[in-house]
Amino acid sequence: MLPLTIMMTTTLPYRDYNPDTDLQPLLQIFREIGWLPEGNKNSEKAQALYLEAGRSLVADVNGTPECLVSNHDASLRYQNTDLPLCIIGGVATSRVARKQKLASRLTAQAIALDVIERGHTVAALGMFEQGYYDRLGFGTGPYVHFCRFDPTLLDIDVEPRVPIRLTDEDFEQVHQGRLNRLLPHGACSIHHPEVTHADMLTRSNRFALGYADPDTGQLTHHLCGCTGNVHSGPYDIKWLAYRTREEFLELLALLKSLGDQVTSVTIPEPSGVQMQDLIKTPFRRRSISMKGESETGVRAIAFWQLRICDLPAVLGKTHVPTSDAVTFNLSLRDPITKYLDDETKQKWPGVGGEYRVTLGKESHAELVGPDSGLPTLKTSVNTFTRLWLGVQRATGLAFTCPDLDAPESLLTQLDHVLCLPQPCVDWMF
Ligand SMILES: CC(C)(COP(=O)(O)OP(=O)(O)OC[C@H]1O[C@@H](n2cnc3c(N)ncnc32)[C@H](O)[C@@H]1OP(=O)(O)O)[C@@H](O)C(=O)NCCC(=O)NCCS
Repeated sequence: MLPLTIMMTTTLPYRDYNPDTDLQPLLQIFREIGWLPEGNKNSEKAQALYLEAGRSLVADVNGTPECLVSNHDASLRYQNTDLPLCIIGGVATSRVARKQKLASRLTAQAIALDVIERGHTVAALGMFEQGYYDRLGFGTGPYVHFCRFDPTLLDIDVEPRVPIRLTDEDFEQVHQGRLNRLLPHGACSIHHPEVTHADMLTRSNRFALGYADPDTGQLTHHLCGCTGNVHSGPYDIKWLAYRTREEFLELLALLKSLGDQVTSVTIPEPSGVQMQDLIKTPFRRRSISMKGESETGVRAIAFWQLRICDLPAVLGKTHVPTSDAVTFNLSLRDPITKYLDDETKQKWPGVGGEYRVTLGKESHAELVGPDSGLPTLKTSVNTFTRLWLGVQRATGLAFTCPDLDAPESLLTQLDHVLCLPQPCVDWMF
C-alpha cells in the first residue's frame, strides 16, 4: 500500500531525474516492463543516453523513483511552418506503483512544464494502447503503412553507387541527415543528436548505409535498419532520410542490391508515395510468401497521438491553402486539467475555453466567448487536434467522435477549407 500522502495530496511529489542516483533504479523498472532485454549492454547505454538527451521527471515512492516521464524538444512541420513540439518519449511506472495515477499526473505535469517553461505549442507520443492518453487530451494520428516486399521485385532501374557504411559513432552526421530530410506535412524531428545515437544502439544487428556530398562530406541521404536474422532477413528499415526523388530511388536501389541474400525488407511508407507502384507482381509474391517469415504485404497501424497545447499560438501559424476562410465559435474541452497540480493549473490549465476561431490563409483563435451570430463547434482538444492536423475530415470525425457537435453546414465548410495532405510523422517515437 502506498503512503496516504501520495494518494490524497493535490500536489504530485515529483522531481527532476538525477543520472547519478536514478539511472540504476530506472533500469530496474525498464527490465521489469520489458524495455531492456537481459544482457543487452547496448540497450542500457541507449536508455541512459535517451534520458540524458531529454528532460525527465520522476516520482518517488518510499524514497525510490517508481515512475518516470521523459520529454524531448522537437519540431512539428505543419504545411511549411515548424511548430515547437514536445515529444513524450517514455512513460513508465514500476510494478509496485501501478494504478495510483502516477503516470497520468506526471505526464500531465511534464507537458505543462514544457508549455510554461519552453513554449511548446504541441505535444506528441507513441501510444502503448488506445484510450490511455485520451485522458490527457491526445488525438490519434492516421494509419502508418509498413510495407514488406521482396527487394528483388522493386521495379526501379537505378544503379546505386557504392554507399558509406555508418556506425553509431557517426551518429552526429546521421542525425543531421535526418533533420535535413524532406519534411512532409506532420513530420516530427527530435532535436538532440543523442536521440539518434540511442536509436542506433537500441536494436541488435543495427546497420546504416548512406551517401555523402563529395565536396562537403555531409551526409545527403541514408537508411538505418535492423534485423533478427542477418543471414536472410527480414530486414526492418527504421527510417529513410532523403531530400529528393533521386535520393529516394537510390536508397531503394541500394535495398534491391541486397536482394541476393535478403528475402524481404520492411519500410515505413514515405509520405506521398504508394509503394505498390514500385513493386512487381505484389499479389503473386504475397500468395507465395503467405504465413511464412518473409510474408510480404502492408500492415497499417495508427500508433501516434498528438495534442494542441496553445491554441492561439498554433492557429497564429496556421496558413491553410484555401481561397475561403471559415469563422466559428469553438467550445473546447480539455480533459488534462483534472490531472494537473493546483499550482500548475494557475499557470497552464490546459486549452479548454470559449474561443472565436478563423481558419484560412490567416488563422487565429481568441478567448472572447461565444458570438451569437456565428455557428458553434463543440468538441474536445483531442478531436479538434485531429481536425486541425488533417487526420480526418470534419464530416468523417462526426461519424466516429461523439464529442464533436456542430451544424452540418459548418462541418461541410470545414471539410472544404481544411483540405490538407495526410500527416506523416516520419520518425518513430
Ligand atoms: C502504462 C503505465 C505507464 C501506466 O502507469 P500507471 O501509473 O499505473 O497509470 P495510472 O495510474 O496513471 O493510470 C492507470 C489507469 O489507466 C487506465 N487505463 C489503462 N489503459 C487504458 C486504456 N487503454 N484506456 C483507458 N484507460 C486505460 C487503467 O485502467 C487505470 O485506471 P484506474 O486507475 O481507474 O484503474 C504502466 O502500466 C507501465 O509502465 N506500463 C509498461 C510501459 C508502457 O507501456 N509505457 C507506456 C509507453 S507509451
